[in-house]
Amino acid sequence: MKASRRFPILIDLLLAHFRTHGNLTVGACGEMAPGVALFLPEGLEPESLPPSPSLARPLAITGPLPPDWGPWPHFGISRGRFRAAIPLDPGTDLYGTGEVAGPLRRNGRTVILWNSGYPGYAKDEGRRLYQSHPWVLAVRPDGSAFGVIFDTSWKAELECGVEIVCTSQGPGLPVIILRGPTPADVLRSLGDLTGRMELPPRWALGYHQCRYSYVPETRVRDVAREFRERGIPCDALWLDIDYMDGFRVFTFNPQGFPDPAGLAADLGAMGFRLVVTINPGVRAEPGYPVFDSGTRARAWITTQAGRVFKGKVWASSCVFPDFTSPRVRAWWAGLHPPLLEAGVAGLWNDMNEPSIFDGPDLTLPETARHAGGGGLRPGSHLQYHNLYGMLMVRATRDGLLGARPDRRPFILTRSNFLGGQRYAATWTGDNYSTEGDFKLATPMSLTLGLSGQPFNGPDLGGFVGDPSPSLWARWVGTGAFFPFCRGHSDKGTRKKEPWAFGPGVERTARIALLRRYRLLPYLYTCFQEAAATGLPVMRPLFLADPANPALRSEERCFLVGGDLLVVPPGTRSAPRPRGPWHPLSLVEGDLEDRHQARLFARGGSILPLGPGAMCTAEAPEGATALLVVPGEDGRAQGRLYHDAGDGFAYRNGDFRLVTYQAELRGDIVDLKILSTQGRRPRPAANITIERLLPTGDRAFCWEGPF
Ligand code: GLC
Repeated sequence: MKASRRFPILIDLLLAHFRTHGNLTVGACGEMAPGVALFLPEGLEPESLPPSPSLARPLAITGPLPPDWGPWPHFGISRGRFRAAIPLDPGTDLYGTGEVAGPLRRNGRTVILWNSGYPGYAKDEGRRLYQSHPWVLAVRPDGSAFGVIFDTSWKAELECGVEIVCTSQGPGLPVIILRGPTPADVLRSLGDLTGRMELPPRWALGYHQCRYSYVPETRVRDVAREFRERGIPCDALWLDIDYMDGFRVFTFNPQGFPDPAGLAADLGAMGFRLVVTINPGVRAEPGYPVFDSGTRARAWITTQAGRVFKGKVWASSCVFPDFTSPRVRAWWAGLHPPLLEAGVAGLWNDMNEPSIFDGPDLTLPETARHAGGGGLRPGSHLQYHNLYGMLMVRATRDGLLGARPDRRPFILTRSNFLGGQRYAATWTGDNYSTEGDFKLATPMSLTLGLSGQPFNGPDLGGFVGDPSPSLWARWVGTGAFFPFCRGHSDKGTRKKEPWAFGPGVERTARIALLRRYRLLPYLYTCFQEAAATGLPVMRPLFLADPANPALRSEERCFLVGGDLLVVPPGTRSAPRPRGPWHPLSLVEGDLEDRHQARLFARGGSILPLGPGAMCTAEAPEGATALLVVPGEDGRAQGRLYHDAGDGFAYRNGDFRLVTYQAELRGDIVDLKILSTQGRRPRPAANITIERLLPTGDRAFCWEGPF
């Protein structure tokens, strides 16, 4: 038995005595779970802590720290603000910090934790964006890692210097330190603590097409028809704000969209889902049912003086639901059934920082009041601003689940907070159609993945401005492998549908998206892994080989899961994790097209593939091919996950997770099932076994019931 377990109180007292740094000592500290430590500054009692909105488990000490525990935080007060700092070993590389416009390696960077809706990543040189994640992943020179959560929602600054420092405008805060040993272990632990993305419906993994705005509905139908006539895969069409009646949320503009249910049904018959945007601002207009019912429910955020706060968004003066209150969240959730009855499949929650055009700093005043409830204390906007988007998508999710308990919700949000992957997927907001923002998209998405949010991606092609045909082509060539894959464009910009740039780019888009749909069984398996473990879908190379210093800053190339390496077009001499890596062709013509990303499969892997399809509804369940990529020892292993693609029966065993193992004997590939989990039957069709040769050629082996 460890000394700390025999004399917990004595050791805690000694540790508390010796760990005095700055002008505040560490008060209570101990393990929350194996390898996860909670530290409180003196004066903050564990019993007095409210539940943390970031965490999926109680913020509680369950035992003493192991005697060899490190690292330790320092607490102090700096210029009147609470400060928590974690010292670093020299040569430690820092990652995470949430949604950031900058390099993958975060050393030397500071972010402002204050969700902001300024377009183009421009405000404060991009140091604050739509989401906040008070979280840093630290990787030491030897590849060992730890992570730090500064558990506060108050406005704060997060600095990655010689120390990791969080300076908060709120009171003293808990610090949670997660020990590796490896970066992947830290990310699993982050998933345990902050919760994991729920498995999305399979259709959400397809390509999405959006524009501000497709209106009237004939335009939506035209876009749908073009996709199908031109043979370009797509699963979802999105309606931006102009579908609404005078920007009133939960309404349809009767001129442009006289029959939403008819539109959704016709699109559904063509294999498309309909996703619509909903902003938090509710038009302040007596007689508008959402405003009236919200007013009756006392749903609105108030000023310090207790009056309902009003601010301008899009067309008019709006009021803002106070999502800190469970009562208000329930009211908001209850607004969704009519949208869903009209055939809407997914929700897009936007402007939820919240963005207010005439508000101070483009949002609510810091002094505005929130009612709280359900564990959240009443408080100011300075305290709750950063949680606004997360609490909104929590309410939206409740609405979707309440109305359709047997369907997996799909929600996309612009604003969010650490732990918000439990409620919604995300995109990286209003980027520009520039080379710079194209390059930035990869480290941004990787960084979100390293911050607990696996389901994310940029506006493919860029939102603001007009890309050159070559830029759009390279963006779709690369973006086809991001977890969330949606083309979008701003009002007044050129058409940016895949065919809008001429036949050459259209061909590139068809090939790129078909590659994605061929990979669907692999991608869905990666999503299941992310949902089960917290590991990202899109991964930086260093995650595969953390001790290799050459990989630490690589932010052009990325991995999808563990076995697929994506090298964006135009990338030369990129480092690679331990391999070998074999070139991979998935669709005819992909290797010859200079706008496509180059793909490589890891030697030692087995990739499950599908036939490709125009939409996921057409794609068969499971895989139709297993591509065996023998390693240097002739062996390979891979996994395939499949289920009904929607609903929750998988939670009760209605899924199939197969681990395959293959061995090369001479020229023969010997394949067997190593293990199977779940009770879902194997799809009836045989699976083709192919072998990927080091040259990139494929050899048909045989087919069988796998
Ligand atoms: C915001 C969103 C953008 C959307 C626009 C209109 O700028 O970020 O995606 O198109 O609002 O709704």
